[in-house]
Amino acid sequence: MLKMASRASALRPLLFLCVLTAVWGFPFRPSLDLDVTPRITVFSNGLLGCRRFSGAALNYSSLLLEDEAGVLYIGARGAVFALDTGDISAPGNNMTIEWEASPEQKRQCMSKGKDNQTQCYNHIRFLQRYNETHLYVCGTNAFRPLCAYIDVEHFRLSSGFEEGREKCPYDPAKGYTGLLIDGEMYTASQYEFRSSPDIRRNIPYPIVKTEEAPTRWLLEADFVGSALVRESVNSSIGDDDKIYFFFTERSQEPMPYFSQTRVARVARVCKGDWGGQRTLQRKWTSFLKARLVCSIPDYDFHLNVLRSVFVVEGRDPQSTVFYGVFGLEWTNVKASAVCQYSITDVQKAFEGPYVENPDSPQRWAEYTGKVPEPRPGSCITNQLRARGFNSSFDLPDNVLNFARRHPLVFRQVRPLGERPLLFKRSVDYTRIAVHRVSALDGVQYDVLFIGTDEGWLHKAVEVKGQVHIIEELQLFEEPQPVDSMVISQAQRSIYVGSPSGVLQLPLSTCGRYTSCFDCIFARDPFCAWDGTGCVEVALVANRSGLIQDVMNGNTGCETSAGEDMAAYRTRSVAEGDDVLLQCEQRSNLATPQWTLDGRELEGYGLDSGYRVGTDGLLVIGARPEQSGRYRCFAVENGVRVLVASYTVWVRPDLPPPPPTTPPPVA
Ligand SMILES: *[C@@H]1O[C@H](CO)[C@@H](O)[C@H](O)[C@H]1NC(C)=O
Ligand SMILES: *[C@@H]1O[C@H](CO)[C@@H](O)[C@H](O)[C@H]1NC(C)=O
Ligand SMILES: *[C@@H]1O[C@H](CO)[C@@H](O)[C@H](O)[C@H]1NC(C)=O
Ligand SMILES: *[C@@H]1O[C@H](CO)[C@@H](O)[C@H](O)[C@H]1NC(C)=O
Ligand SMILES: *[C@@H]1O[C@H](CO)[C@@H](O)[C@H](O)[C@H]1NC(C)=O
Ligand SMILES: *[C@@H]1O[C@H](CO)[C@@H](O)[C@H](O)[C@H]1NC(C)=O
Ligand SMILES: *[C@@H]1O[C@H](CO)[C@@H](O)[C@H](O)[C@H]1NC(C)=O
Repeated sequence: MLKMASRASALRPLLFLCVLTAVWGFPFRPSLDLDVTPRITVFSNGLLGCRRFSGAALNYSSLLLEDEAGVLYIGARGAVFALDTGDISAPGNNMTIEWEASPEQKRQCMSKGKDNQTQCYNHIRFLQRYNETHLYVCGTNAFRPLCAYIDVEHFRLSSGFEEGREKCPYDPAKGYTGLLIDGEMYTASQYEFRSSPDIRRNIPYPIVKTEEAPTRWLLEADFVGSALVRESVNSSIGDDDKIYFFFTERSQEPMPYFSQTRVARVARVCKGDWGGQRTLQRKWTSFLKARLVCSIPDYDFHLNVLRSVFVVEGRDPQSTVFYGVFGLEWTNVKASAVCQYSITDVQKAFEGPYVENPDSPQRWAEYTGKVPEPRPGSCITNQLRARGFNSSFDLPDNVLNFARRHPLVFRQVRPLGERPLLFKRSVDYTRIAVHRVSALDGVQYDVLFIGTDEGWLHKAVEVKGQVHIIEELQLFEEPQPVDSMVISQAQRSIYVGSPSGVLQLPLSTCGRYTSCFDCIFARDPFCAWDGTGCVEVALVANRSGLIQDVMNGNTGCETSAGEDMAAYRTRSVAEGDDVLLQCEQRSNLATPQWTLDGRELEGYGLDSGYRVGTDGLLVIGARPEQSGRYRCFAVENGVRVLVASYTVWVRPDLPPPPPTTPPPVA
């Protein structure tokens, strides 16, 4: 293992250069135009309406939001909290259950050689609603997982723990996902170091899970998410509900680059699946998996590691879409992409051809032989019931034997639009959450909240298959990964969990935008200009006078709007002095433009006597003919907005300053 790892890492830098040369363009091509610059950068001291919670615990990694009840449950290291969603920082609004591993258990954990700083604690990994009165919770318990019920009314653990060995991973950092649906518990993980990863239904008994022989259905799978899609609702074919699982695993098929060894996948099982009668006993009869592709076609650049998934339910199950955040498996390079998929494309892949089974000579080819009936991997539908297959127990052995050897389908699931919505260099995204909102133009927009490994949050809006990053917010001064996110519709807040605490932020802070154009350029579907200020649309009853342009981000404001807000100054300087005329561009997307007496200053080259930067215009060695009226504009989305104007008078009468005098500061 060790040897392989070091050999692989020795190869990495080389390969990495080849691939990156293609994407980064360096040194031959301009950089990738997909790379999106956030419009505004906000550092942690500039956050508005931000509330923080951090108890004595660490690792606030499991969040459970009950929006109607107004409670946010948090699973941390050694504790579970219940907070008031209105203000998570308000004293008296918190309740705590302390649940740490026993000293004896910690001692055993350390004697197994585990890390006493991180691993030998009770990390809460599972926290969901069980029934009307109780939550179900599982923790790593210093490498001996336990589960328990929480009595919500009194907020305490009910008496009696349950074995958590195969419901919750031992390792706090291991990929894991779980769901409690209608009293059934589904989990996916590699529970302990020696076991193989699996996808299972733990409750009710008997457990149903994935197969390991003769074909392994999962190879070192690292799970990031799961979702129930209620495909039985209004189904004309009597379809079953399905549970989708999202993960990265060791690739079985050839990969684009030889140093890429992993592949992103989506798998599903049917909710009514109880396994086969003789073949596939207590194993899924409906398990299928497909490759999830997120690549940049023009550059043939593949992001192969899935880091987070968010499923957005539509009006009906068929219009479900999901967003995936992808990165690279090479640890020495940061890059991320967001791809969007439609559930119908996943379904189509599952209905298509299978991959040959791994024991056959052409093992990565499409299987072209005979497929038994009913189609292996199917849910029980009306058509099957009519043929006497009432449940998975009734499926014939030849079908189940085929299913057992053909878990992978041949067709890949490609992103909508065939490319990422967003690509970002030098950033590792860790989590994504999405909120769908109707804007004033009647269009529904998806607002994406994407957390990074260094504690930043990118808020973005998807418009016509492209993503505009409205703002990047620094959530934590100490760099730390965003571990979890939930969005409250009722509170119009997002809650973000990290190693050091939980943070509550409003979904929008429209007041940050001070002019009509600033408000429009932001393209924030939550914000609109009401004639005097940029306001939260949700708080306005009469919306007829509001101005908003999410689609294009440039129309609605009067051209002269904001002119009176522009700074105006007079400057008198001595001939030969250097003068800085300040003009701060608030937006990273704006380019400055300067005029002198109405004429545009062009080519700020070395001998022009001017230098332009993000903070303003430098007049170098001022000459009398450079006197006049200077105006600074911000040009954004094709609109020119006045930011500042100066009347500059260069006085020829004064002697030049001695060389040691610093240039005057504006
Ligand atoms: C929880 O509430 C109590 C008051 O009931 C307060 O003293 C404490 O500081 C709060 N804890 C946190 C972490 O906010
Ligand atoms: C963890 O182990 C190290 C080395 O064995 C020891 O020095 C340290 O005191 C231990 N820390 C705790 C919290 O037990
Ligand atoms: C919920 O489950 C708990 C634990 O099994 C049980 O004690 C409790 O009675 C249940 N509550 C309801 C309303 O069924
Ligand atoms: C199912 O059909 C009913 C009646 O046509 C409709 O009211 C309901 O919204 C549908 N549900 C979904 C999830 O499509
Ligand atoms: C399937 O269910 C139908 C009606 O419930 C029943 O008549 C039939 O015998 C069942 N078939 C099998 C194979 O169990
Ligand atoms: C828990 O928090 C500590 C301190 O920030 C961090 O080093 C560690 O990686 C975290 N562990 C997990 C499992 O997130
Ligand atoms: C809404 O505002 C518009 C102008 O902004 C006004 O003409 C209209 O009467 C208002 N409607 C109501 C119901 O107040």
